[in-house]
Amino acid sequence: MKIGVLTGGGDCPGLNAVIRGVVRKGVGVYGHSFVGFRDGWRGPLENDTVPLDVAAVRGILPRGGTILGSSRTNPYAAADGPARVRETLERTGVDALIAIGGEDTLGAAARLHAEGIPVVGVPKTIDNDLSATDYTFGFDTAVNIATEAIDRLHTTAESHHRVLIVEVMGRHAGWIALHSGMAAGANVILIPERPFDIDKVCAFVEQRFATRYAPIIVVAEGATPIAGTTVVKEGELDAFGHQRLQGIGTLLETEIRGRTGRETRATVLGHVQRGGTPTAFDRWLATRFGLHAVDAVHDGDFGTMVALHGTRVERVPLAEATGELKLVPEQLYAEAEVFFG
Ligand code: F6P
Repeated sequence: MKIGVLTGGGDCPGLNAVIRGVVRKGVGVYGHSFVGFRDGWRGPLENDTVPLDVAAVRGILPRGGTILGSSRTNPYAAADGPARVRETLERTGVDALIAIGGEDTLGAAARLHAEGIPVVGVPKTIDNDLSATDYTFGFDTAVNIATEAIDRLHTTAESHHRVLIVEVMGRHAGWIALHSGMAAGANVILIPERPFDIDKVCAFVEQRFATRYAPIIVVAEGATPIAGTTVVKEGELDAFGHQRLQGIGTLLETEIRGRTGRETRATVLGHVQRGGTPTAFDRWLATRFGLHAVDAVHDGDFGTMVALHGTRVERVPLAEATGELKLVPEQLYAEAEVFFG
């Protein structure tokens, strides 16, 4: 078989490990050949390809980013998008696709599969918000980067008796904030799943100062105040209609300073959470996802996504994985709340 591979959406550490796993097993064990499509769905839409053989994947295991490039191109943005994808596959002699992506890339893959395009999905995202898999690769690396940053902020916050706010990514899910905030001993963790009460946040800040420590607040970029308590500005939309989230850290900075009179500063970690080398866990998970994805293609099991269940990698329907977001459940947040204040 000739198999096309693409990486779509926001990049994350581990993408190259998947590509390597796919190609090494696909060529070495099954004798398949591969072609890379550049920049997510833009590649098949515009027939933009890159050679992908064993030599091309040498040395890429620990490298962040993706050798294939990525974009948030939506193949359904234009009416003829799916037809153009099909045409490219015919023209290049590609029998099947492996799409490595998050909610949007795999949502498009599920729709294309329903229209007869043979595709297998691999779940990536630092946000860890894809259903049907225990973890996505990229998440562990992002959590470790955020944890190290919070550890460092603790010492400077204490020297200056300041309130330090750390804004982390995660879109509409609070997984990165919850895991890094718990790992690094944040005084308050604010997540999108639970709108926050600014008066309570200020009370936690004062409680922390009363014990002669400086408060660190970890806020997920998608967190919002309880309706009507403060105003959050709207960001621009991407090709899939998602709002670009930004500004909650700065808003909190102003609110807390205004309400408590304490010196308050916000740090926005931003894309540093997506860059650089993957952790060992993410390399391990991404590599296994790659091996299992090429198995699924070899078996002709299209319309599926590889998923981690415990320590097993299994196949689930793409539609199940992209149907709804996996959010932080109430009881996990309650565990973190024990340490607030
Ligand atoms: O989905 C991954 C992610 O990093 C989100 O956490 C964040 O909201 C978004 O992508 C940022 O996207 P971009 O890099 O396109 O600004």
